Amino acid sequence: MSLLEATPELDLVVWPDDRSCDRTWLLGNIPGSTGLVVMLTEKVDSEILDRAGPSLKVVSTMSVGYEHIDLRAAAQRGLRVGYTPDVLTDAVADLSVMLALMTSRNAGIAMAVAKDGQWPNHPWSPFALCGPQLSTMASSPARKAGFLGFGRIAQATLARLVSFGITHCLYSSNPSSPTNHERDAELAKRYNLQSVTKVDIDELARESDFIFVLAPGGHDTYHIINENFLKQMRRTSILINASRGTLVDSDALARALREGWIWGAGLDVVEGEPNVTLDHPLVKEPRCIILPHIGSATLETRRAMAVRAAQNVIAGVLGGNMPAEVDL
Ligand code: DGY
Repeated sequence: MSLLEATPELDLVVWPDDRSCDRTWLLGNIPGSTGLVVMLTEKVDSEILDRAGPSLKVVSTMSVGYEHIDLRAAAQRGLRVGYTPDVLTDAVADLSVMLALMTSRNAGIAMAVAKDGQWPNHPWSPFALCGPQLSTMASSPARKAGFLGFGRIAQATLARLVSFGITHCLYSSNPSSPTNHERDAELAKRYNLQSVTKVDIDELARESDFIFVLAPGGHDTYHIINENFLKQMRRTSILINASRGTLVDSDALARALREGWIWGAGLDVVEGEPNVTLDHPLVKEPRCIILPHIGSATLETRRAMAVRAAQNVIAGVLGGNMPAEVDL
């Protein structure tokens, strides 16, 4: 806000509440705007863009994901779109590792035992609350980390997993983009890994001990984690999703957990969020850790995202270079 307020060319109209903006408010206030700053909770479609009218030059989202913006509609109107990559990479990678640990170590069930006053009924016992270990032990086969999507956040997550003794990295990414052998060899060397290998999605499901879903949302990845994928995973494997809920078929995942096709799931995002309530099939699953989309929720990261979103809208309105612009 201080950046925007310090820009004399801007007249600000600001949604007053600390929650996502009502669409009716947005539709009522947007006519004649030059720039629009939104969060991932605001759907920016033709209706919004038409209501803004020809004065609109730029849409700036305070998020790295931009599937809530109709890019084709924006391009047709000659708009520029800004987003906030890079600044949240570390926070989301931290959270991905946290979810892997929480899921594998049954943190959801264990915390409920303590917080619900049930500890006296669950004293220490040899195999109580045990789960598969993230870190590699000399006595167990080397752990394989799998990534669906292998961009900045996935690679930052891999970097963290190196200290857990991960030696093999498998990843599956957009089949139409060529394999970057040079980059993969460089990563393997930098982290002293035995392999960094691009595989097809079925091999990813079959071979990984921990699968991190860190790919963009949208049409191309909708329900890419489905019954077929989950059935190929190992019974001791763990699925983490810190990208978008739409990548995972929730009903198939609930079934996989209920019937023991996989060990557990750690989710920061769920399709249909925030309407995920007690009757949701995944909320009912004890081996499913669910967090309410807090991947980037550190004070430092959110501040950096806000600054970048402000810089992007200012550059878009004034016709300068944006720190991060979507290639339309
Ligand atoms: C993003 O920026 O797209 C993230 O999901 C927010 O945490």
